Amino acid sequence: MRTFEKEDQRLEGIGWVPDSGPCSGAYVLNEGRLLIDTGNMVGLVDEIREVAPLEKLEHIALTHTHFDHVGGMAEIFQTVAPHVLMHPMAREYARLLRSPFPEFFQSLEEAGKVCYVQDGAKIPGTEVQVFHLPGHTAGDLCFYLPEAQALFSGDTVLPHHVRFAAILSKPDEICGGRMKDKVESLRRLLRVPVKHLFPGHGEPVLHKGAHQIKIALLTLYQALYENPPEKAWLLMAEDLLAANQPEEAHECVKKARTLAPNSEAVALFGEKFR
Ligand SMILES: [Fe+2]
Ligand SMILES: [Fe+2]
Repeated sequence: MRTFEKEDQRLEGIGWVPDSGPCSGAYVLNEGRLLIDTGNMVGLVDEIREVAPLEKLEHIALTHTHFDHVGGMAEIFQTVAPHVLMHPMAREYARLLRSPFPEFFQSLEEAGKVCYVQDGAKIPGTEVQVFHLPGHTAGDLCFYLPEAQALFSGDTVLPHHVRFAAILSKPDEICGGRMKDKVESLRRLLRVPVKHLFPGHGEPVLHKGAHQIKIALLTLYQALYENPPEKAWLLMAEDLLAANQPEEAHECVKKARTLAPNSEAVALFGEKFR
């Protein structure tokens, strides 16, 4: 398990169990009381035990219920029975997973172990805030630690250098994922101070988390509006301006101007920076 307190003391107590293959990463917080996602790996319990006895685990918070984020629960529940926090829509779409997942979630529910959380909630016993940021699926949650400015982003934001990042984070329409929602969710994240990004796949991005959110949004705009090429940069500039980041917005306008020196739209927008 990798820890991060050497990079930033405010990250003390966060442990990362890396992802591998068709399996998300998992994060241990709060001295082993909270787990964010469970991957789909064998051996997760041994990793958790490096931090604390498994019996201390009180909550598992799920960013969503794709199998690569929930499979590790099977091993955990052989020994302990923590509460599982998720968005109601994530529970809904867990019914679509292959057996034995639907039966497993059903048994959790019958045992009173499922806790539904909504946007704005706090994870009990922690300072972790819950953001509902749909788009990849309808029930996507991100978890945010304000003091450390750390965002646990599931598949909502993946670092751009992660192999297959676009595929792993794209809207899954069967699970209620919508491109429109994804754009809105990323726009909302532009207003959140994110120093450190702890994604569902790939290595955590320390100190430059916000940059990854911008790249994710720009990449979506570029995919949605291939032509004219300056459009994505102008949309980005607009969003950054609205998010009170005028310098970054200006950089996007400059880029748009390079791509389309004679564009009227670019010239008009550029007036805002005079
Ligand atoms: Fe994933
Ligand atoms: Fe996913």
